This record gives sequence, C-alpha cells and structure tokens, in this order.
Amino acid sequence: MNSENFKIIAVNSNNIQVEILDSTEFDDQFSLGSYIKIPYRNKNEQFAIGIIENYKIKNSESEDPQTAANQPTFVIDVKLVGNLDETSDDYKFERGVYGIPLPPQNGIALLTDDEIKKIYSSNLKEKEKFTFATISNNNSICVPVNGNKFFNKHFAIVGSTGSGKSHTVTKILQNAIQSKSGQYDGLNNSHIILFDIHGEYKTAFTNSNVIDINELVLPYWLLNSEELEELFLETEANDHNQRNVFKEAITNNKKSKFIGDKKEKDKIHYDSPLFFEIKEVIKYSKNRNNEKKQKDTNEVQWIDSKNNTIIFGNEDNDILFTELMKGLGTATGTLNGKLINFINRLESKINDKRLNFLLGEETRTATFSQCLKQFIGYTTDNSNITVIDLSGIPFEVLSITVSLISRILFEYGYYYKKMQKVESDCKTPLLLIYEEAHKYVPKSSLTKYRASKFAIEKIAKEGRKYGVTMGIISQRPSEISETIFSQCNNFIAMRLTNPDDQNYVKKLLPDTLGNLTDSLPTLKAGDALLIGESIILPSIVTIDRCNPEPSSADIDYFEIWKEKWFDVEFGDIITEWTK
Ligand SMILES: Nc1ncnc2c1ncn2[C@@H]1O[C@H](COP(=O)(O)OP(=O)(O)OP(=O)(O)O)[C@@H](O)[C@H]1O
Ligand SMILES: [Mg+2]
Repeated sequence: MNSENFKIIAVNSNNIQVEILDSTEFDDQFSLGSYIKIPYRNKNEQFAIGIIENYKIKNSESEDPQTAANQPTFVIDVKLVGNLDETSDDYKFERGVYGIPLPPQNGIALLTDDEIKKIYSSNLKEKEKFTFATISNNNSICVPVNGNKFFNKHFAIVGSTGSGKSHTVTKILQNAIQSKSGQYDGLNNSHIILFDIHGEYKTAFTNSNVIDINELVLPYWLLNSEELEELFLETEANDHNQRNVFKEAITNNKKSKFIGDKKEKDKIHYDSPLFFEIKEVIKYSKNRNNEKKQKDTNEVQWIDSKNNTIIFGNEDNDILFTELMKGLGTATGTLNGKLINFINRLESKINDKRLNFLLGEETRTATFSQCLKQFIGYTTDNSNITVIDLSGIPFEVLSITVSLISRILFEYGYYYKKMQKVESDCKTPLLLIYEEAHKYVPKSSLTKYRASKFAIEKIAKEGRKYGVTMGIISQRPSEISETIFSQCNNFIAMRLTNPDDQNYVKKLLPDTLGNLTDSLPTLKAGDALLIGESIILPSIVTIDRCNPEPSSADIDYFEIWKEKWFDVEFGDIITEWTK
C-alpha cells in the first residue's frame, strides 16, 4: 500500500500511534502482531521496526470531515521493537531503537512477507535455527528461533486449559529429538525428562522411555534429610524427639551398611546418598521407645528377646538395629513411650502398597547408577525422552518424588561438570519439562511443597551452568513461585483468560511488550505470543501441529453423545481403580 498513507500522531518512548489516513487505499492485511517499518531521517535504508499491539477506529466526529464519510479510519498502537539495517544483503536486525525521527517521516510501511522472512533467516546461523511455528496471520512464514538460546536457558509455556500447551510441548520436543547435524543413524544426543502429571505423553513419543508407577524405582535411601522428614515425620508437629531419633538411626545405619575404609565411613552423614535399611530404623525406634534407665546411675539398659544381651547406654547402635530389645531398669528412659506415633507412621508408610516404588523390595537392591540411568534414557533401548508418568503417584508423595528426581538430575549435571577437564565441556545437556508446574512449585509456603520447590528453584537459579535447564508449563502462571518464572528467558504465552494470570504474565515478559498480552484472551488454540532471547522479533505465531499427538485432545462430546447408548464394563474399571 501507499506508504504516504501512514501518519505518526503520537510518540511516547517506545510506543507510537499511527493513523491510517485513507483505508480505501489499504490492500494489505494487517492485524495484531503485524510489523511496520519507519525510516530513520538521516540513515539510508535503516528503519525502526514496530509491532502492532492494538488498533481502533478513529472517532470520526471530532476529526477531518473529509475522511469521516463512510470509510473507517484506523489508529494503530505500535510498540517499537528494534532496528533494521537493509543496506547489506543480510538484513541486520537489532533489538532496541535509536528513537523516532521527528517530525515524523514519510515512508512508513508494513513489512512485506519477504522482508519478514529475510529478517528471520539472515539473523540466525543455519545450524542454530530451530523452527516449530509460523506467523499466525501468514502461515507461509516460518518463525525460527535460536535453538541454542531457546534450550540453554529456561523457558515457560503458559495458557488456559485447552489453549494448546501440551501440543506445543510435544511439537518442540518432537523437533528437538529429530534434529541432527550431519548424517548418522540412530538417536541424536538430546536428553529430555518430562514430568507427565496426567499420563498424556505416552502416545506422543512412541519410542520414549516411559516410566510409570509400576516401573519407577526410586529408592527411599536416596532421599535427602528434608525429603525423608517430609515423608516420615509429622513435619508440622516439630517434635524434636522424633527428629533426633530418626536422624541418629539413619546416619548410624548408613555407616553400619557401608563397606569401605574407616576414613570414608567417618564422613558419612544424614544426607549421604547411601543405602540404609528403613526396617532397621523402625526396630531402632521401637527399642528407643522401650528405653528404661537405672534410677540411681541414670544408665539406659536393654535386654534382647533371648534374654542374653544387655547393653548399657547407647554405645552399641548396631545391636539396637537388629534385635527387638526390652528396656530394663527402675525408671522410664527419656524416650520411653514417646515414639509411638512416629513408629506407627513409619510402619504404615512401609506397608502402604502405593508407595512400593519408593519403599518396596526393589528399592533395596537398586543401585544409584541404575536409578540415574533410567531417568536420562540410558536404558537397554536408549531413548531421547524419558516420560515420567506421575499420574499414579499418591498426591502426598508427589512433591518428594519430583524433588528427588530433579535433585538427582541436577547433581548429575553438577558432578559431571566437576569431573570435566575443560570447564565449559558439557556432554549431555538435560532438559526437564514440568507439566502443570503450579502443582509442585506453587507460591504457597506449605511444607508439603517445600521439597519440590526447593529442588526446582535450585535448578532455576543454578541449573544453566551445569547443563540442566527446564521448561515450565502452566495454566495458572500467577500461582507459580516467582523465583522460577523470573529465571525464564523465553516465553510462549498462549490464550489466557484469567485477568490475574494475564497481568502476571504482562509483568514478567522480558520485552516489556505489555500491550501485546492484551491479545492473549483472544488467541486461537495453538496460537501463541513468542517472546524472549531466542527469537529475533517478538511474534504472534501458530505452533505447527505435532504428530503423533498427546492424548489430551478435546473430546468430541456432542458427537459421542449422539451415538447409541454405550454399555460400560464397570468391573474392569473397578479392577484398574483398586489394583
Ligand atoms: N497448533 C494447534 N493448532 C490447532 N489446534 C491445536 C493446536 N495445538 C493444540 N490444538 C488443539 O487444542 C486442544 C487442546 O490442546 P492441549 O491439550 O495441548 O491444551 P492444554 O493447554 O495442554 O490444556 P490443559 O491445560 O487442559 O492441559 C486440542 O484439542 C488440540 O487439538
Ligand atoms: Mg496440557
């Protein structure tokens, strides 16, 4: 269209208002997210680039009567995003603008498709390009991002239910595992761990390593002190007796099971990732609960079930672990009778079938290395993606499950780096995807979220350096810990209808493209605002369709309802339910 047809009517730092003088001359399409270019006064072929954030029809009464006839006149709000240099073949685009030429210059125009394509393609090296979307108002234009910058810092995908987050995650990961430099057979070297809270990704990654509650082996002895206490103690009760006995029993039991020299043994502490036998910890606690002492000497004494071992004091912890002892003496010991609730809790946990993945027999024989390998895809059939299906995990242990796995993966990155001769050498960068992240890293300070919050916040703050980054997916961004979000460098904001969430996202977006987020409630499923360090121009995009899809697609209610009455096999459902 005729470039003389645009007129700048207001400038306010990086926001400008442009009037379209005669919309009859307008033959190009423009919509939210379209780009315009404004020539700099004294710099040939250099332009300020802006993105249309908003438009309105001008109030014709107060304006020039000639344009008021029956043709609407538009005023568009434009956010300036960068500076384009068209002098060379490789259209150089930079973030930030030098200011707007005043008085406003003629020659303002919409960027053509070709120009947009050139900007995207010439500002990224071919090997860095990673593409999973097209411009939403022109699907013939692919929008590549810088693949290194996208994956080497954390990213977030937010949007209301049904906005297309799971499909977006799927598309991104499917493209990532298919990308190869050069020609070779077999897998590439991507390592992705997906925390799948609804069990919907199995169908999307057919060759992935899927671990559900029946296959998961997550030994309780790898839990750290916080996680152990969250699982076994009444954390809110703050009972020092329980905590002290528990800590003492675990530390001593780890030492007694340790095979190695004394110097190493002395270094063992409560948090050491070493085997201990939880059943012996229970025996120990029962013994301490029977504790009696001699009134005159204050000495604690026990006798074993065969009446032949008498121990004085606490010197011989090993014996306390193996035999059920009776307290002797003339007075009750300090702990006598005080540990009953605690022991009941321990016993009910180890008898809880649902916690077999954490406390069952297999967790005793599993090795640390097996446990680690299952999560990063080094299994019999190696795999780029490990889908951890959390759908069967009881809610009360969800936080420690996520925490333990996240922590193991972070520490893997940490120790692997420590071992490397060259500091920057990271052989297996990991990406951790947290679906429905508000469920385990909420703003809430409740103890039940403490473990997972702590572990994930640590990755948010330090993971990048050790090759452990994350993708945070959420339909309630305003409920997620701010520490997590503020560390994200790339955002895919999909349709968001809740005003709290919209405002929250608005504040967090790095490009201060505040008003663009006004379009968030109106986006179609699969459309998104793509913003961040990895993308050249902030863009409203349509995410490419994934194939195969996750099992999260909308249900065709009406069509299903119109079919003949369906006989449900209730027996099968009950079996599945109670298994
Ligand atoms: N790129 C796309 N183009 C068109 N439709 C899409 C696209 N991505 C997703 N959809 C459709 O949107 C619907 C919801 O997608 P999806 O399950 O990914 O949403 P979600 O944001 O993950 O929802 P929830 O928060 O409930 O998990 C699906 O039926 C899917 O087919
Ligand atoms: Mg989803």
